[in-house]
Amino acid sequence: MCGIVGIVSNKSVSASIIRALKKLEYRGYDSAGISTITNGEINEQKCSGRVDNLEKILFQNPSSGDLGIGHVRWATHGIPNQVNAHPHSSEVVSVVHNGIIENSDKLRKEYEQKGYSFKSQTDTEVITAMLTDFLKKEDLINCIHKTLEKLEGSFALGVIFKNFNNLVVGARRGSPLAVGFGHDENFIGSDSYALKSMTNKISYLDDGDFCILYKEKVEFYNSDKKKINKEIFELSSEDNIADKGDYKDFMSKEINEQSTTTKKCINEYLDKSRNEINIFNLPINPKKIKKIRLIACGTAYHSCLMAKYWIEEFTSIDVESDIASEFRYRKVKLDPSDLYIFVSQSGETADTYAALKKCKENKIKTCGIVNVVESSIARLSDFVLPIHAGPEIGVASTKAFIGQMIVLYLLTLKISKERGDINLDEYAKLVLDLRKIPSLIEETLSKQKDIQVIARDFINAKGTMYLGRGYSYPIAMEGALKLKELSYIHAEGYAAGEMKHGPLALIEDGIPVVVLAPKDRFFEKTISNMQEVIARGGKVLMITDDTSETMSENIRFKFQIPKTNSTINSFLLTIPLQFLAYHVALLKNCDIDKPRNLAKSVTVE
Ligand code: M6R
Repeated sequence: MCGIVGIVSNKSVSASIIRALKKLEYRGYDSAGISTITNGEINEQKCSGRVDNLEKILFQNPSSGDLGIGHVRWATHGIPNQVNAHPHSSEVVSVVHNGIIENSDKLRKEYEQKGYSFKSQTDTEVITAMLTDFLKKEDLINCIHKTLEKLEGSFALGVIFKNFNNLVVGARRGSPLAVGFGHDENFIGSDSYALKSMTNKISYLDDGDFCILYKEKVEFYNSDKKKINKEIFELSSEDNIADKGDYKDFMSKEINEQSTTTKKCINEYLDKSRNEINIFNLPINPKKIKKIRLIACGTAYHSCLMAKYWIEEFTSIDVESDIASEFRYRKVKLDPSDLYIFVSQSGETADTYAALKKCKENKIKTCGIVNVVESSIARLSDFVLPIHAGPEIGVASTKAFIGQMIVLYLLTLKISKERGDINLDEYAKLVLDLRKIPSLIEETLSKQKDIQVIARDFINAKGTMYLGRGYSYPIAMEGALKLKELSYIHAEGYAAGEMKHGPLALIEDGIPVVVLAPKDRFFEKTISNMQEVIARGGKVLMITDDTSETMSENIRFKFQIPKTNSTINSFLLTIPLQFLAYHVALLKNCDIDKPRNLAKSVTVE
């Protein structure tokens, strides 16, 4: 979390830094700051709250200078106030940091003993002290190198120096850092999206690298201080499309574009003339895969849970889904004949990245399913399957979830076919059905108004449950996550059959309960569980493709999804749950795109 930016230019940089910080606000939004070199001195300005507040400060007290760094914070060490906001500066150096310095307590003591004092509670300020100290006896390269060597943990850094007033330094270990190349100006940023209005030529630092930006060139160094070259990527114009258009917020835009993004994704992978899925050269021959392990966090983890059901249904392969923050520390028996799949929208999630690294270090074959193709996870994976969803800016993941499920479903069918687990007629039918998903999503999206009405039932609820069986269970979990992160209402996604083993005790008069009851092989059982909830006073929102009048007099509201084959109705069940979370949050006046305490890209563990 946290977003950093740095610019060295032939013109004043503060307006460009502010613009880039606004793009990075999805990474953290509890405080913001900027440092420039103005009249030969470090000019640091910072505040609590959003970048808008910083902009107001700069409006009254403009910050000139043709090089500078900026920061948006998601607090880890120290409360989100002005003092703890970045940059952290001494007389001679100013630092912005994304990540966590794990040995900061030890370093703080060491530098206090040397006579340095600290203003903030942050882990970052030790870096300022270290750079200041090394500068007294080392040249610039050694000063940076020695500082980085002493740091433990994860970081991306941006640094400016009073006495080197023609350069900005960037460094990376664990947290992402992109480098942008302009005309007579160069940039660093936590992602390429932040830099897109300034350049489409981008490189990325790898772990251990650092760089020195001058306005006419960029020098790259590895962890041994050796100068290195970097590949420069050109962003396509499509990578650059990320504005709200006519929508009120990014989330509603992202929900509503899901028929388009799924169509794009399916088109990328389907050879329509042969009705074939174009996924070739997996890192392990599908016939030899012993087990598939799916690893991710949050919403991406829910897509893995979904895939577990599909892989079990269509292949003879054993499958497990794991939460990355658990997997990375477990004593898992890593077997080279298992396929490890890492799913991440951002491709930068620290736990997922660490889990991937653990596999790579053990020579395990890996596959990354990502939205951001130039991300760290994509670059480290042996094989990458992009979800082609386009930039997702709202903190709550919506179109990326659907995209992750599409790719996982395609991958399942392809593996199943390659292994001979599925008969060819069934395969052909499922692929044909898959092509209908975008229009079915479109039809479901058109029913948003129905959900707007029922959302009122949730705004004063002290809690709610989402129930489903089989394929609907992971979707119930995802629906509950969406509601809690957006509207701050406690919500649990539960396997409907588990209710009587404890959670039924929570059901009391008036509690809203969402029941996912597609007309699949579990339908009757789910209806029984729903009846048990209604009998205890639960107000049920039933989401189904069943058109009969089942229980209708007892159900508070029935949302109808289009009929489709039961293995893919998960895509359609997801849509009303996204709308529900969105409208409840809107009614409660919550910040839709930036829910409290969260950030889009979780680059700390
Ligand atoms: O970028 P990733 O897909 O790796 O992110 C994983 C989670 O942090 C993310 O899905 C999070 O749970 C979302 N905010 C949920 O909407």
